[in-house]
Amino acid sequence: MIRDIVIYPNPILRKKSEDVIKFDKELHTILDDMYETMVADGGVGLAAVQIGILKNIVIINLPEEDKEKPEYDIQIKENLIEAINPIITSIDGEYSFVEGCLSIPGFNEEIERAKKVTVEYFDRYGEKQNMEAEDFLAVAWQHETEHLNGHLFVEHLSYLKRKKFEKEWKKKLKDKRKHYNL
Ligand code: CO
Repeated sequence: MIRDIVIYPNPILRKKSEDVIKFDKELHTILDDMYETMVADGGVGLAAVQIGILKNIVIINLPEEDKEKPEYDIQIKENLIEAINPIITSIDGEYSFVEGCLSIPGFNEEIERAKKVTVEYFDRYGEKQNMEAEDFLAVAWQHETEHLNGHLFVEHLSYLKRKKFEKEWKKKLKDKRKHYNL
């Protein structure tokens, strides 16, 4: 089922999520709904808090180059990472990348992150997993685990860029409300 995405500045996005204890059917439904919601919105990663569930769950599904049509990227479900209670255990290097977020649609900005991360997490069956990631995938891990701690990528912006963003975002939300009222 496609769920509604929580949009900034909804205060739930500031809350810390809690660990999952039971790896049961309810968890699997949340994961399936997160995937459907992410794909429907054209995202490559999603944290449970973004559909209003304060649990330590993230999914990541980075696109790949289509071999038939290299100008298009495709998302393959086999590449889907489902991570329960993920923890970044080490970071290394520096990498900058233009990020966006399904909770802040239409806003993208270059953010400085670590280039490499090591992550520990559980899969949907409660099996412990670990992974080393770099570049775009490392960025995705850092972005998504930050959501679980109640943080958003715009917090990495410089003071002036953040101020500009807040101003533009307020205006955008206001314009949207105007639209709906017509
Ligand atoms: Co996000």
